[in-house]
Amino acid sequence: MKKQIKVAIDGPAGAGKSTIAKAVAKRLGIFYVDTGAMYRAIALKSLRSNIPIDQEEEVGQMVQKTEIILEHSEARRVFCDGEEVTEAIRSPEVSRAVSKIAAYPVVRDRLVQLQRQEAERGAVIMDGRDIGTIVLPEADLKIFLTASPEERAHRRWLELCNSGREVSLIEVQQDMEKRDRQDSEREVSPLVPANDALILDTTGLSIQEIVEQIIALTLVFKEG
Ligand code: CDP
Repeated sequence: MKKQIKVAIDGPAGAGKSTIAKAVAKRLGIFYVDTGAMYRAIALKSLRSNIPIDQEEEVGQMVQKTEIILEHSEARRVFCDGEEVTEAIRSPEVSRAVSKIAAYPVVRDRLVQLQRQEAERGAVIMDGRDIGTIVLPEADLKIFLTASPEERAHRRWLELCNSGREVSLIEVQQDMEKRDRQDSEREVSPLVPANDALILDTTGLSIQEIVEQIIALTLVFKEG
C-alpha cells in the first residue's frame, strides 16, 4: 500500500462512516480523523457557554479561540479547551444544534484548516461531509457511504440506547432527516458525493463486508 494514502469517507448521518473508518484505520495501521467530532465540539461549546447558535459572528469569534484535540489512541477521546467531551458531544441536543453552526463559513474555514493539518501527519482515513470535495480533494480513495433512511435511523437509535440514552426511534429519525436536509442544502460545502467518489450503499450489509471492500480498494495503491 502507498505509504501516505489518504482515504475520504463522506455520507449522511448513520451511514456507518465512523465505525467503518475506525475499523479500516486499525487494519491498515493509519490515522483516523473524525471531523464531525470537531463540529460537535464547537456546537457543545456554544450550548454550554450560552452563545446562541444563530449568532454567526459570536460563534465565529468563539471558534477562533477554541482548542480541539482528537486523541489518536484506541479510546479516541475528544478534548475541547482541555476538557474531555467524548461522550457529551454525542447527545441529541448537540446533534440538533450542530448542522446550524456547521453551515457558517467562518467555522468551516477554521476546522478545515485543522483537518488538513491532521492529514499532514501521514496516512489517514478521514470521515465527514466534505472530505472528498473540500478537505482532501486529492485523496487517493473517496467513498460515499449511504444506507436507507430507515436503516440509518435504526442504527443511530441502537447506538444511543446502548450508550444509556432514552430516545424514541421516531425522534431519532426526525432529527436525522432534518440534519441531513440542512447538511445537503447549505451553500458552503454541502453534503454531496465528489465526482470521483465511489458510492457504497450499506443497506443490509455487515460492517465487516464493507470494511473488506474498502481494504480491497486501498490495495490498488501500491507503495511508491
Ligand atoms: O455521526 P454522524 O454522521 O451523525 O455525524 P458527524 O459525522 O458526527 O457530524 C455531525 C455534523 O457535523 C453533521 O451533521 C454536519 O452538520 C457537520 N459536519 C460537517 O458539516 N462537515 C464535516 N466534515 C463533518 C461534520
